[in-house]
Amino acid sequence: MSHFSEPDKPHAVFLPFPAQGHINPMLKLAILLHHRDFYITFVNTEYNQRRLQKSGAAGSKSPDFQFETIPDGLPPADSDTTQHIPSLCLSLKENGLALFRQLLVKLNSSTGGVPPITCIVSDAIMSFSVVAADEIGVPCVCFRTTNACCFLCYKYLRKIMEKGLIPLKDSSYLTNGYLDTNVDFIPGLNNMRIRDFPTVIRTTDTNDPMITFILGETERTSKASAIIFNTFDALEAEVLSALSPLCPPVYAIGPVHLLVNQLPENSLKFMGGNLWKEESECIEWLNSKKPNSVVYVNFGSITVLTPQQLVEFAWGLANSKKNFFWIIRSDTIVGDSANLPSEFVEETKERGLIGRWCPQEQVLNHPSIGAFLTHCGWNSTIESMCCGVPMICWPFFSDQFINCRCACTEWGVGLEIDNNVNRNEVENIVRGLIDGDKGKQMKIKAIEWKNKAKEATEINGSSYTNLDKLVKNVLLSRK
Ligand code: UDX
Repeated sequence: MSHFSEPDKPHAVFLPFPAQGHINPMLKLAILLHHRDFYITFVNTEYNQRRLQKSGAAGSKSPDFQFETIPDGLPPADSDTTQHIPSLCLSLKENGLALFRQLLVKLNSSTGGVPPITCIVSDAIMSFSVVAADEIGVPCVCFRTTNACCFLCYKYLRKIMEKGLIPLKDSSYLTNGYLDTNVDFIPGLNNMRIRDFPTVIRTTDTNDPMITFILGETERTSKASAIIFNTFDALEAEVLSALSPLCPPVYAIGPVHLLVNQLPENSLKFMGGNLWKEESECIEWLNSKKPNSVVYVNFGSITVLTPQQLVEFAWGLANSKKNFFWIIRSDTIVGDSANLPSEFVEETKERGLIGRWCPQEQVLNHPSIGAFLTHCGWNSTIESMCCGVPMICWPFFSDQFINCRCACTEWGVGLEIDNNVNRNEVENIVRGLIDGDKGKQMKIKAIEWKNKAKEATEINGSSYTNLDKLVKNVLLSRK
């Protein structure tokens, strides 16, 4: 039951960056706030809203939860493909503020029972929202959908540049061992090498537009009313305390999907945000497999594979003789002619299943899953840990390298695979994780983290309490 009469409802406008890994945690938080009696406007790009409709998601089941759209500024595209991320970043940086401003004016002048906007929750890489919120006098919370460790790296980016560590002198520095140089001057970060930094630093150009973008977004995010992370205190304690003096109030409120799972049935907990159509038939197949016997392979929404990498992964999985469930999106492979070898398909038909997009949380929670071969997107990493599933890490870009380092070195739940993927390594690492002692140790560690994540999100747990504080101290505070 609502505690507010309709026009007095607090109204939160959500502005996610338009990519799957950003939409998912934002939508979860929006659902949580809706359950706490907020009116929600969730802003997608026109392109993504069309995709959400096509995939069967994006239907609101509440009069207090509406979707709005803004254009992304890119040339029209009709297919179900992940857009070019740097182009999206730069286009929204250029056009986002004006578009968002217009939308806020429209919402605030609505006569159709939409309460006045009282706060904005924006992706931290759409930080023009901080300016827009300031103009209408409401608090703006920036949601950084990477882990806290990645944001700490960004906070030190300027210093790293001042020290001359980046940009790279020339492209030979990508392969001559330079990336293994230790970076030991960032409080809160241990065992850190240049190669672990977000890949934006792998440039030779001082004026690289993405470096400029990240520097600008990080500085502006630091002017928000608060910064939030989909992580939890116990997981990143040292990093969070190192960040605290450098930022507005920081709240670790994750894993948000665990908070959502605890909501009652009459909430919006089942509202999905999939850009691809979800195939749930895989669950039946997983039901037919023994516990801890299947390797789940999924490289998220952005990673692409060359035909050569596809074939190396395929034969690595086949030669391991283990069960596998592999998601290959319609746009995963570079080039048109890429197909799985027919011998591979024939040889693995009893123990392999290939799909296009799946209900990942449900899959990771399935008892048959013994390991996750992942690109280490932050959502995938934290979802895997919440299910007690150890990871084989093959980071692709952006923050995934740092997530991989954390999973392997700090948290003891991952084994890294060489970037230059090779079938023998895949075979050995898969066998080791499913059958070997290393796999058993990592499973124990992963279950420890699963329990800690559960603790953090239960009533009086750290994330549960941090969300309470965020709502009371920031989102419901008038500027
Ligand atoms: C990207 C970056 O990689 C990530 O590091 C960043 O923090 C957010 O943006 P993405 O590459 O898509 O995201 O990976 P990830 O962060 O793992 O997000 C993918 C999401 O899609 C997860 O929530 C996952 O559960 C979901 N998913 C993926 C599915 O539901 N089904 C699938 O088949 C694949």
